[in-house]
Amino acid sequence: MTVERTVIEHYRHGALEEALLAGLIAAGKDPDKLTPDDLAAADEFHIGGRQATIDFATEFAPAPGRHLLDIGSGIGGPSRFFAQHYRCRVTGIDLSAEYVIAASSLARRVGLDSHVEYRQASALELPFPEHSFDDAYMQHVGMNIADKVRLFHEMRRVLKPNGMFALYDVMRIDEGPLSYPLPWASSEEANFIETPATYRALLTAEGFVVVKERNRAEFALDIFRALTAKSAAGGPPPFGLHIVMGATAQQKTANMLALLERGTIAPVEMICRRVEINPHAGNV
Ligand SMILES: C[S@@+](CC[C@H](N)C(=O)[O-])C[C@H]1O[C@@H](n2cnc3c(N)ncnc32)[C@H](O)[C@@H]1O
Repeated sequence: MTVERTVIEHYRHGALEEALLAGLIAAGKDPDKLTPDDLAAADEFHIGGRQATIDFATEFAPAPGRHLLDIGSGIGGPSRFFAQHYRCRVTGIDLSAEYVIAASSLARRVGLDSHVEYRQASALELPFPEHSFDDAYMQHVGMNIADKVRLFHEMRRVLKPNGMFALYDVMRIDEGPLSYPLPWASSEEANFIETPATYRALLTAEGFVVVKERNRAEFALDIFRALTAKSAAGGPPPFGLHIVMGATAQQKTANMLALLERGTIAPVEMICRRVEINPHAGNV
């Protein structure tokens, strides 16, 4: 099986949209009268959920009217956030057809479908001409991509000169074995976490300057402690990310939390700018 097929299989749910709508109804929502905030507990598939996107967006800060590319857009929470709160137009691409369908349907339901669009595509073969986007971002996707040289090369190709590329990925901070399943990989075949130093070196080689970097381990641990206390008090809520993660959600989260606590992994933000490559003087 190719890596991409393995990744698609890992994220496959089978009846995702129906399960999300059932969860919303169980939470007392009317699926015909939804707002983007109603979806936030399940449509932000990364550590820290909506709060992580708020913090990430504050650092990234795209100007209103910019056309953004969302690499690995999932079921679309971050893209709808940037459309609603930053007045950007967002194109999301994702390997999973099931996610693309759910993301499009949720965007229609919350009335944001004229500001966001989703396409099934690989980050390693972006179906766009060069200089198509003002800025781009990626949240919790690099862990599934072995060929980061090609990923960053594609990113640079489709970005306009001086465009920003913001990323928020789980990275390796220390040595040590990983236990599976994890939220992004059922086995080591889909796991390609790298160190911040590797990201920095590859980004720089592909013509980006990392202008800001932030390790979000403490934020992540605080979020998980609060979530653990809440679910110990009454089980998982009717609508949440566990619906997207499926039957093994609890195990995936527990394995990830143990690695976070051990300091083996951490979610890290990097805000980068596409620069001209000057072979004689380094990137400027
Ligand atoms: C953990 S989810 C994050 C989704 C979304 N970025 C978010 O934060 O809500 C990872 C997503 O990356 C997508 N993905 C993984 N590898 C990809 C690739 N090579 N090209 C496009 N999408 C990819 C997966 O299908 C999945 O939807």
